[in-house]
Amino acid sequence: MTTKKPIRVAVTGAAGNIGYALLFRIASGEMLGKDQPVILQLLEIPTEGAQKALKGVAMELEDCAFPLLADMVLTDDANVAFKDANWNLLVGSKPRGPGMERADLLKDNGKIFIAQGKAIDAVAADDARVAVVGNPCNTNVMIAAAQAKRLTADRFTAMVRLDENRGRAQLAKKAGVSINDVSDLFIYGNHSPTMFADFTHAKIGGKPAAEVIGDEAWLKNDYLPAVGKRGAAIIEARGLSSAASAANALIDHVRDLTTVGAVHSVAVNSEGRYGFAEGVWAGMPVKTTATGYEVITSYEMDDFAKSKIALTNDELVGERDTVKDLLAS
Ligand SMILES: NC(=O)c1ccc[n+]([C@@H]2O[C@H](COP(=O)([O-])OP(=O)(O)OC[C@H]3O[C@@H](n4cnc5c(N)ncnc54)[C@H](O)[C@@H]3O)[C@@H](O)[C@H]2O)c1
Repeated sequence: MTTKKPIRVAVTGAAGNIGYALLFRIASGEMLGKDQPVILQLLEIPTEGAQKALKGVAMELEDCAFPLLADMVLTDDANVAFKDANWNLLVGSKPRGPGMERADLLKDNGKIFIAQGKAIDAVAADDARVAVVGNPCNTNVMIAAAQAKRLTADRFTAMVRLDENRGRAQLAKKAGVSINDVSDLFIYGNHSPTMFADFTHAKIGGKPAAEVIGDEAWLKNDYLPAVGKRGAAIIEARGLSSAASAANALIDHVRDLTTVGAVHSVAVNSEGRYGFAEGVWAGMPVKTTATGYEVITSYEMDDFAKSKIALTNDELVGERDTVKDLLAS
């Protein structure tokens, strides 16, 4: 049996749909390694229903007798959930209610991420890292990071990996090849239909994807919107939003951020790269290093790619404008 020190993983919204597809995979070692014990620190809202559901999930985790699950903490207190946590997976957020404007959703969720950003900065481990899934995830991570005085901005990421996985799968399907033949497909910008799945640099079997597909109109007019609106298509088909694939993408996101040399799409502080506004969190390719990641800045964008990036950047800047009061608080 392993003698490694357990890694503390805080998960918010742990009794939700994604939580139910995520926690068992973390506890089985799929995220941090098959020899790495974990302690799950699970946060839910303080309603009787949510806390009861959380307890039920914890009972099932217990019943799995996972050898790597060293301990569990169940709480409605962010300062308990994030205490000494090495990974902070911010999945929980408020869904858009009937008749609710997007601006209200941004502001309501923004408040959650102010409180959680503050708590993480105050009590999480010195090597704490944050991955935001709760939507609108690019703006939520920006709000959480704005609260941090101890932790640096590079510790805060948001998830665009589901979009990358969707984009790779759609290219493989169209070309009639294995998913393993598709590479270099990265997501730029917002986790929303404006995202740019950069097919212009993607490869299929080592060749440019556009050459292999041989149908530029399909790539521009069908493929891009299909990847961007895949979340809505899942809701339409399943009656529920994507949960298992989102949990899977979060496992990929964290695993690749802890695998030196992995190259993958992550939403990070843009620092003005690829024409994004300074300080918005935008998807882009990163390469994992021993201490964190470096953003890959070497891709040259053509006019079409630049126009797509400008569009998703405009949306990110608009979201930031909507929550500017929260950023200042
Ligand atoms: N980035 C992505 O690719 C991606 C993909 C799919 C879903 N999402 C988003 O992930 C989020 C969760 O999705 P889900 O299907 O699990 O939703 P869900 O409604 O089933 O679960 C969310 C859970 O979060 C909890 N919660 C709400 N506010 C909280 C808070 N302040 N602290 C702790 N817990 C809180 C709720 O009680 C609920 O149990 C949603 O915002 C969804 O839009 C993101």
